Amino acid sequence: MIDSRGLERAPGEKPDSTFSQRALSEDFAERRARAREKLDAVDPHKRPGGIEADPKRREWFEAVYALAEDDPAGVPWAHLEPRPLLEDWLAAGSIVGLRALDVGCGLGDNAEALARAGAHVVAFDLVERAVQWAQERFPQSSVDYHVADLFDAPSEWRGAFDLVHELYTLQALPETLLPDAARALAAFVAPGGTLLVISRARDDNEEIGGPPWPLARQDIEAFAVDGLRLVSLEDIPPSGHLARHWRAEFRRDEAGG
Ligand SMILES: C[S@@+](CC[C@H](N)C(=O)[O-])C[C@H]1O[C@@H](n2cnc3c(N)ncnc32)[C@H](O)[C@@H]1O
Repeated sequence: MIDSRGLERAPGEKPDSTFSQRALSEDFAERRARAREKLDAVDPHKRPGGIEADPKRREWFEAVYALAEDDPAGVPWAHLEPRPLLEDWLAAGSIVGLRALDVGCGLGDNAEALARAGAHVVAFDLVERAVQWAQERFPQSSVDYHVADLFDAPSEWRGAFDLVHELYTLQALPETLLPDAARALAAFVAPGGTLLVISRARDDNEEIGGPPWPLARQDIEAFAVDGLRLVSLEDIPPSGHLARHWRAEFRRDEAGG
C-alpha cells in the first residue's frame, strides 16, 4: 500500500513521520506513487497464482531497482537514512569491533549505520543494481558489499558474524519462505553472536494483505532455530506516525558455554 506521500506502508499503518525532509518533498512523493503503481502492475503477488510464478520474488525485486532508473523514489523502501529502530538499538550498546552482516541491504543506509557504530560490516542484497547503487551512494564506505542470495549464501559466511542484522526483508518474503530464511539467518551467527530482527508487526490472527506482510509473534519466535535462543522481543506500539513493530534479539551461546 502507498500512502498519500508516496511512502510504502502496510495496511492500517500510519505514515512514517521520521522520513527525511528530502524524501518528503511533494515531488518525491509523486514520483514514488507513480513508481508504486508501475511496480504493483508487475507484481505477481498482487494476483492469484503469483507465488508460483516468482516464489522468491526475485524477478520483482530486480524489477524494482531496474524500473527506478536511478531515482530512489522508485524504490518503495528507500528511506535514505538508517531506520530509527536500528539507530535506537545501536545507541543503547556498543558494537565496536564486531563482525556484522546486513541482510538484504537495499541502498545501504542501515549497513552504513552499523559501520559508523564501529562494526566491520559485510552487506548483501539479491539484486546487483541495489548493491551497485549502495556503493555509488557511499563511495568512501568501509562496508564490504556483495551480491548474494540469503538462501544460497557464500559458505565462508557460515558462523562468521557476531551480529546479523535483518530489517524489513523477511516481511517482503512469502510466508512459505520464512522457515528457510530462519535457518539461513541462524547459520550466519557465530558462537556468542546475536541475530537482530526488526519488522512490522501484526496480531497472530490478524488478516493481512500484502506484500509487505507484517510478521506475527509466532513468526518471530520461530526464528529461534538451530541453536539460536530468543533473548528479547520488544512489541513496539504505534507511536506518532510509526507503525507497530517487533525488535527481536536472538543469541547463540558460546561454544561449551
Ligand atoms: C524491503 S527491502 C529492505 C531493504 C533494506 N533492508 C532496507 O530496510 O532499506 C528487501 C531487500 O531484500 C532484498 N532481497 C530479497 N530477497 C533476498 C534474498 N533472497 N537474498 C538477499 N536479499 C534479498 C531485496 O532486493 C531488497 O533490497
